[in-house]
Amino acid sequence: MLYPRVPALTRRTFLASAAAVSAGVVLPPQSDAAAGLREFRIRAGPGRAQIAPEPHGDTPIWCYDGSLPGPEIRIRLGERLRVAVENKLDEETTVHWHGLRVPNAMDGVPHLTQAPIAPGETFAYEFDAVDAGTFWYHPHHRSFEQVGRGLYGPLIVEEADPVRVDREVTWVLSDWRLTKTAEMREDFGNRHDMMHNGRVGNTVTINGRVRDVFQVRKGERIRLRLINAANARIFGLDFGNHQPAVIALDGQPVEPHAPEGGLVVLGPAMRADLILDMTADAGSRVSVIDRFYEGLEYRLVDLAYSDNPLRQAAPDWPVALPPNPLPEPDPASAVRHEVTFNGGMMGAMVMQEMGGSMGNRGEGSSGAMGGSMGNLGGTMNMMHSGGIWFINGVAAEGHVMDPMLTLAQDKSHVIAMTNATAWHHPIHLHGHSFRVISRNGKSTRHREWQDTVLMSPRERVEIAFVADNPGDWMLHCHILEHQAAGMMGVFRVA
Ligand code: C2O
Ligand code: CU
Repeated sequence: MLYPRVPALTRRTFLASAAAVSAGVVLPPQSDAAAGLREFRIRAGPGRAQIAPEPHGDTPIWCYDGSLPGPEIRIRLGERLRVAVENKLDEETTVHWHGLRVPNAMDGVPHLTQAPIAPGETFAYEFDAVDAGTFWYHPHHRSFEQVGRGLYGPLIVEEADPVRVDREVTWVLSDWRLTKTAEMREDFGNRHDMMHNGRVGNTVTINGRVRDVFQVRKGERIRLRLINAANARIFGLDFGNHQPAVIALDGQPVEPHAPEGGLVVLGPAMRADLILDMTADAGSRVSVIDRFYEGLEYRLVDLAYSDNPLRQAAPDWPVALPPNPLPEPDPASAVRHEVTFNGGMMGAMVMQEMGGSMGNRGEGSSGAMGGSMGNLGGTMNMMHSGGIWFINGVAAEGHVMDPMLTLAQDKSHVIAMTNATAWHHPIHLHGHSFRVISRNGKSTRHREWQDTVLMSPRERVEIAFVADNPGDWMLHCHILEHQAAGMMGVFRVA
């Protein structure tokens, strides 16, 4: 199989003292000088974390403020956020505020929206929180290594009027490629990872640790904010006999619904807010299983019910979130654009299935083939150049700055995206949230707002949005090895 098994490491029971899954630390505001301004300071630098369970020792990592994940930045809708980022690494860095609709200069893309932050320097980001929801922050410079070593943290923007729950919990999910002695495998950015499914690790963590149990009480209602901070791993979480309601995706409210197919699927960078009612009996244990990769299921954690129930039945409080102020696109009048992803291992094979046999390629195609010539060109490029992944036939190299598309500002746009590869790709657009309006020609049920859409092999997805945020914005795969191997481009909104 293509995906490695998570070894027994993650299944091992460890001591009860480490059992509670804590959310990150909330930083106090450092100044209340201006009403509504919240100031934070975070330091990117080396650290250590107890990732693998004892008796393993801790693992050298890179992180923010010495903590894994980085401190939870929590503000309220409408507040202004200022974060001074100090670089204590030996290399340059930046911070990208994933999913937040920020002004272009605050987007954290090195050489595109700012100069990278040099070692020893500090850069202050400042922007208004225009949407409530579950977001996160991470470097956008050599992110396949910087994120892979532990640089990321949750960023929560609270609604003015949040849904009522007993407890709110944030789980930052990640995975690691560790040696038997819990050292970091240093093979970041290797060509095999780049060509296949990215750096999928062998040790899965919740909030930076391998977890055994998460304590709950019967009758309790929890708002669970899930953030997939892994470089490449896709999660498909099964909560057993619990019926979670998905109330937000990528921070944006969605009509509350049961997860499609019973699994909460999160590609890298994606988030989901769940309402989880604890309906099992006091004293019971219910496993949360990751079933994304068929045949490679593993237990993420057990929900461990205490002996004293909070209440006998789930509360009947409403669960729907108020919408964020996103401009509504009009797909009927929208400008349409085509974006095709190709490359990777077996790229040519997929082309063969999609567009005819390999033998046809050099012989001039029929008219019907014309539309996919760009794809074939991409595959040819792949074979002749060092590039691995392509967007509309181009593999990005070094710092991408030339826009591949210019989108008229304040107009509706539909981007029809085709995944012409044999692999999954979580495709992320900066500066905007978009509605996912169709998959393989079929309208989506919830027309969900996302900033990262997971595309299956060979899938066609249409997204729609109003390009209301001027500037140059990245579009890239959030499997960070794919991004590094060419799968990124720039959209200009002007
Ligand atoms: Cu979360 Cu361009 O990134
Ligand atoms: Cu990808």
